[in-house]
Formats: sequence, structure tokens, C-alpha cells
Amino acid sequence: MNVKKTDVVIIGSGLAGLMTADYLCDEKNVMLITKSELNHSNSWLAQGGIAAAITKEDHWQEHYEDTIVAGGFHNRKETTELLVKQGSSLISRLIEIGVNFDKDKNNQLSLGMEGAHQKRRILHAGGDATGKVIVEAVMARVIPRVEIFEREMAFDLHVEDGVCRGVFTKDEQGSIWYIEADHVIIATGGVGQLYSATSNCKEATGDGIAMAYRAGAEVADMEFIQFHPTLLMNGDSSCGLISEAVRGEGAKLVTEEGCYLMKGKHPMEDLAPRDVVAREIFHSKLKQEKIFLNIANVKNFKQRFPSIYKMCEKNPEMLENKLLPVEPGAHFIMGGIKVNRKGQSSIENLYAVGECAYTGVHGANRLASNSLLEAVVFSERLSRTVLNKKQINNREKGAPSIVIKNKTSKELPTTEEIQNVMDQYVGIIRNKKGLQKAIQWFGQYESILREKSHYQLSTQEKIISNMLTVGFLVTKASLLRNESRGGHYRNDFPMKNDDQWFGYRSVFKNGELCRERFIENEASVQGSLPELKKELSIS
Ligand code: SIN
Repeated sequence: MNVKKTDVVIIGSGLAGLMTADYLCDEKNVMLITKSELNHSNSWLAQGGIAAAITKEDHWQEHYEDTIVAGGFHNRKETTELLVKQGSSLISRLIEIGVNFDKDKNNQLSLGMEGAHQKRRILHAGGDATGKVIVEAVMARVIPRVEIFEREMAFDLHVEDGVCRGVFTKDEQGSIWYIEADHVIIATGGVGQLYSATSNCKEATGDGIAMAYRAGAEVADMEFIQFHPTLLMNGDSSCGLISEAVRGEGAKLVTEEGCYLMKGKHPMEDLAPRDVVAREIFHSKLKQEKIFLNIANVKNFKQRFPSIYKMCEKNPEMLENKLLPVEPGAHFIMGGIKVNRKGQSSIENLYAVGECAYTGVHGANRLASNSLLEAVVFSERLSRTVLNKKQINNREKGAPSIVIKNKTSKELPTTEEIQNVMDQYVGIIRNKKGLQKAIQWFGQYESILREKSHYQLSTQEKIISNMLTVGFLVTKASLLRNESRGGHYRNDFPMKNDDQWFGYRSVFKNGELCRERFIENEASVQGSLPELKKELSIS
């Protein structure tokens, strides 16, 4: 087997992976591998922006409050505080490295508005191309300083005596590599491709989460999937995201008859938290009613949202009528590989950062524009963890031996079959009966789900197996959580059940699913806004 050796290997090329590489590469040899191309990531596609309390009219406590209210009071308070506090100071780092955030006519940073924020605090760039602008700036720094391997897929972690010692990869020629590293960092992003309608890039198949789970890492809160309310529809299929920032600038969701969809449904109406708006649109869809985003009130739509405008131009009558047909689609997973505030997983020398990591900052439903922020804040924290870690002699052990087993005879499902099951039973609205049907369906693939090594599979089979694993974890956790909270909605348990679930996350430990208490401070407030406000004014 071919062997590569490095100090740090980073798997994934979204903002979290790239920024971690940027922070580390002056002091460590860093390899970054991605199964497709460097610029194929959800970060690259992020339109809305990056949230931060940077004006004197705003305060990190207000951003914190919005994050926790949108998160259904399910956030880890300690990490959420770090997110919003450190976030505002790290914005200057982005500006220093050349990110040109949009400015207003007075040359001040132009701040956008999005759902569930009390204030305008969304920095954006290139109008609606924030992710691309930030990623390009970081990529320009990383490319000359880091060894990058594109079209190379990581498929198995090597864990020995409880320590992660490296990762197996397969390159585009089909050669297998073992990358021996002191630190293995998973930054593989989300799982949107589990569903037929998604805002995610085609690479978002949950590979890193599945790989970490197979290696025995703890994985938490997988039931919490966020569905973005407004994917642009072209007939029956979605063709891209329409940023919530469009509603922030005055667009309204309307029915075919022109009635306001969100009127009277939530105090923040069109800017209610995403889970609330997505469910409303989904209910209309179930009644065969079409929903549109009316952009008549959005000033300078073409200049403010150039990429969205371009997407709509393919169907010019949408722009003429100022009515964009929309439906919800899978957007973000709040759960993932469980990490502590330093980015460390439950396996020594294995770390996770970005969407694939569960830091607890998003609670049950991520606040708009907090995902790029998470990448920026936790990549910085993780790199400090790696740099401060006492060197252990992890290497010079060579490639581990591999037991090659016969390939399982069970035929794998197609991507569409997985998506069908997830759409139907584990989507925006769930219940026990449907979730049990999904579990039964996954049960046919038990031998594949139990398989610890993907060595013998083709690249496409590896991806399908990862999707099966992650889909199964989402389904199992959704069945366990017999309440509704944020992105997880059960119509057989339509309310929050604080007595049973407040302060508890679902965690897969050694393959077993359990409830785990996570509230750091036993005296911590219960889940209500007045209590949260009281706590904030005390601290
Ligand atoms: C959007 O622009 O609506 C998506 C941004 C985000 O998910 O935070």
C-alpha cells in the first residue's frame, strides 16, 4: 500500500477545512484532501452572509439570544457564547486577509437582515456570493502552503488503542493510500444529499460523519435537520437557493391568490425561524397549493442579489411577474461528530470542524448566517488545540495491515431510493409509524451498515454506504426524540417536551443510541425567553 506521512491531514475543502489549514500550515505540515474539487463545497454556495454583532447598536448578547431562541433552547450555552463573542472579533481577521465585504454608500459595512435576527447584522460580499468570496480569499492563501489532493476520497480511519493514527484514501486512479498523521481533522460538511430537494452541493453525502461513526466516535443530535424554506423551483425540481436575505430586504411569501402566507403565523412573519417558515410552505404543498416569493418590494434586486437574479433569468417570466416559485429543501444538519469546545472528538487525535461537527452551537435549528461564523470560530479554536498539543509519537508505525473480506452480496440501493425513504418518512414532518417504516427499510442493509471497513467498495459504493449509515442515524435519533423541537418535527408529538428532553441530546456511543444530559450548569435556565433575558442581564 502507498503511504504518505504528515503532521496534520484535513479531510474536506469547505471554509472550516481551509481555514484550519491556513491557521496551521506555518507550523505544521498539512495535507488537505477532497473527494472532488477544492471549490465544491456548501461554503462556496453560501449566499446570505456571516452574522456578527459588530456595530455599537448591537451586542454579542443579542446575537446569543437570537441564536438560542432560533435553536429551540437546545444550544450548548458555553460554545454558543464562544461563537458569538469570538465571531465578532474574527471578522477583522477576514478583512485582513482580503475579504471585501459589501459597503453602503457611506463606505460603511452594509449589514443585511435574515430570519430570527432582532437586528441587521449579516455581513455579505459580492451581493449574494459571500461564501465564494470568503473561500476564494482563504484558498489563495492555502494553495501555495498546503499539499492538496483533489479527487481523492477518505474512506476509513485507522484507530489503534483508542488513538486515531491515520486515514485510508482512494485516489482518482483507484490507488489506495494510507495517510499517517498525528492529527486527523474531519471537515466534510453536511448531509443534504440524503433528500431529493436540497440546497447542498452534490458532495454533501455525510462521508465524514459516517466514517467517524464506523470508527467508534460519538455522534450527537442527528435528528436535527434544517430545511431551508425557499429553494427556487423549476417545475417539479429545485434549481438553487433563494437566500433568506431576500426576505430580509422585503420579499414576502404569498399564495397563488396573493395572500400573505406568514401573516398571523408568527410574530416575525416572513422572518420567523426557518423551521417555522419551512413547515408552513410544506403544509401548503401537501394541500397542492403553490407558494411564491413576491420580490416586488425588494429594491435593486439585480444588484443586491446578482447570483439569484442570474438563476431566475433562465425563466424570465418569474422576474417579469416578480413571483418566484419556492419550496423547502434540506439545508443543514445541526448534529454530527460530537466535539468539545476545542474541536476534539471522543477519539484521541481525531477532530471535527464545520457542519460535520456537533459543537452544540446551533441547538435544534441553526440561526441564519451562523454557519460560516461557526467555520471561522471553531477552525481557529481547533488549530490552537492542535498547536498546543504535546507531540506524541504517533508515527513511524507504517501502514496497518488490512483484512480483506469478501464483498457483501447484498446489492446497494440507489441514491434516489435513499432519498425517497428520507423524503417520505424522515423529512420535514415525521411520526413513529413512518420512522419505523424507514428503520425497516434500512434493516435490509444491516450487513452493510455493520461493515466497519469500506476498503473493498468502489468509490460510488462507499458514498452510497455512507449515505445509508447517516440516513439510518438520522432516522434512529428521530424515533428516539418523542417531541418536536426546531428542525425535528413529529406530528405525533407536536410540542416540546421539556420534562423529558430539555437539556438532553441524543448520542450514538459505541453504536448504541442514548439520551445524554448536556447542560453544563445545573442551575441553568429552562427554555423560555424571559428566563434567558434574565440570565443575560445577570451575567
Ligand atoms: C441563506 O442565505 O438563506 C442561507 C444562509 C444560511 O444558511 O445561513
